[in-house]
Amino acid sequence: MTVVYVDSPLPDDERRRRLYAGDLFVHGPTPNSLALAAFAREMAEFAFAPHFPPDAQHHLGATGYVEVLAGLKPAFINHPRSKDLVRGVLADLGLDPAHSYFDVPRLRTMTSDYLNAGLTLQFAAHRDTWFAAPMCQLNFWLPVYEVAEANVMAFHPRYFDAGVRNSSRDYDYAEWVANGRVAAARQVEVETRKQPRLEEELDTVPDLRVITPPGGVLIFSGAQLHSTVPNTSGRTRFSIDFRVVDRRDVERGRGARNVDSECTGTTLGDFRSAADLSPLPADLVAAHTRRTAEPMPLSPS
Ligand SMILES: [Fe+2]
Repeated sequence: MTVVYVDSPLPDDERRRRLYAGDLFVHGPTPNSLALAAFAREMAEFAFAPHFPPDAQHHLGATGYVEVLAGLKPAFINHPRSKDLVRGVLADLGLDPAHSYFDVPRLRTMTSDYLNAGLTLQFAAHRDTWFAAPMCQLNFWLPVYEVAEANVMAFHPRYFDAGVRNSSRDYDYAEWVANGRVAAARQVEVETRKQPRLEEELDTVPDLRVITPPGGVLIFSGAQLHSTVPNTSGRTRFSIDFRVVDRRDVERGRGARNVDSECTGTTLGDFRSAADLSPLPADLVAAHTRRTAEPMPLSPS
């Protein structure tokens, strides 16, 4: 059973516990989530002017389109206002800044039947934990413009507790930081970077999709198997996502159960305190860094 909690008043400790067990939480727009979505729209509309960003893909060639994204995405990610608004969203939703650490908010675009590599990569079904996310990672996702069932992400909750064959054993986070990320801007049409991927066919029908108005916030465990559905809406989807960990859960080893992630390294060093932007202590990050790919026995629930 997967429960979708809408505007739940549960305290954050209980919400995290249920997220680690595979449930989803959906919150209506908050003052700071609305401001974050509005800030992304403002930046995107400036970058794509005179085109409306969700329609700009129909007016620009592939190279020109990727060039705009190559400027827009890092500008949004690194803007101090983006981080301030994320901290505001966390406060709006009842997370304790003294214990919450977040990764920079990313602006994602998913074009409709158009580019499919590099900065517009469509992710096949995956768990973020295959990419060295800690098991207690929670993902926060919000649409920037209106979304529809044909351009959101799909969850495959039947696999939350059931391992699937995947190539995460070949993924090392430190190596990805050194080589993979900088290569993204160079890949316009062909995706050649080594990413963890499925190694078996899954039963992905039916799936679960959540649609909120712009600024609505979807929270899910980084261990959820999810995918981006092929966008057939005719419009580019713009969304923001960021990841959050609770330091107490990192320290105590709480989180979702690892059913099939075999990657090495950890993304924990990327997280910053919601209180003062300090990183997690280096020894805590080191203690959670997987150094060797140990085979995971596949464990069906
Ligand atoms: Fe993901």
